[in-house]
Amino acid sequence: MTATGTPVPTTAAVAGLPQARGPLSGRVLDALRLPSAPAREQAADRFPADLPATDPYGDDLQLALYVLYELHYRGFADVDADLEWDPALLRMRRVLERAFLDRLRADVPGGTDLASALDALLVEPPDGNGLTHYLRDRGRWWHVRELLALRSLYHLKEADPHAWVIPRLDGQAKASLVAVEFDEYGGGHAGRVHARLFADLMRGAGLDPRYLAYLDHCPAPMLATVNAMSLFGLHRSLRGALVGSFAAAEITTAPSARRMADALERLDAPPECVEFYTEHIEADAVHEQVMRHDVIGDLLLREPELTADVVFGIQAADLLEERLTRHVLDAWAKDATSLRMPLPGWGVGPGSLS
Ligand SMILES: [Fe+2]
Ligand SMILES: [Fe+2]
Repeated sequence: MTATGTPVPTTAAVAGLPQARGPLSGRVLDALRLPSAPAREQAADRFPADLPATDPYGDDLQLALYVLYELHYRGFADVDADLEWDPALLRMRRVLERAFLDRLRADVPGGTDLASALDALLVEPPDGNGLTHYLRDRGRWWHVRELLALRSLYHLKEADPHAWVIPRLDGQAKASLVAVEFDEYGGGHAGRVHARLFADLMRGAGLDPRYLAYLDHCPAPMLATVNAMSLFGLHRSLRGALVGSFAAAEITTAPSARRMADALERLDAPPECVEFYTEHIEADAVHEQVMRHDVIGDLLLREPELTADVVFGIQAADLLEERLTRHVLDAWAKDATSLRMPLPGWGVGPGSLS
């Protein structure tokens, strides 16, 4: 119900388990189906203790991690909610997230130069070769629909990974982060929750608005962006990285939302497709300032030793976005789908809603 008592349709149906993408995700999915704790312990004993030969950015590891993290959000149909804290599953998760975290730390420049890390996010690529530049300038309707399906993994749980950090903050940093989250969650109005606006957008674009409906479609680079948020959010020791990655998202959203709104307007998309983005053009211009000055600023006054982790969070979010951008644009440059399987209507339409 809304504050006025009007029922609001929900998209909260719980999804079934996805398809395995290799041995690691296969073992995790099998373990979720085992009937007893001892059986899961045996499965964890057989799980590799480290993963030197596995690509930490690959589909198999990223899906395995995604599935285990999802137990902390809405879970899956026919999976016992108590498995969220199953010790055997947590042992498996630890191996996977260690491989992912180690690789992220190795692949970013690091350091403690916060101002440079933040400024780097605002540097526009010289040839405007980002995803939203592509959609604004030459995207077709099927490109837009692919991006919406990809982004649905995050936007249908928008702001949830960042909520984990709230009990780990104090003072102004806590108050200001909660103020940003309050906006993300609709300011007390279910119909204004950003995840709900995104579901409306998907419906308007003829896509399935149900939570995780496109998990099987989404390739590893998309899973990795959400997995990083969950990784940072679920570990108190990574609270600096969580705040950094959240700030990175807020700083980069307003200009990309502007370009998405322009793309949708050019393609004559229905009005409900545009509202999610117009909301973010204004909201995130404010959120950017709040995250920079009131959240990061206050956090680092209290805990200056977290500076390197805030920088790491910013750089990791940027790296993973860049990897996703390259994946999608490389596919589109070949007129191929960026998804693991195409959506209906893929590749159709010269430049309009077809
Ligand atoms: Fe939002
Ligand atoms: Fe925001």
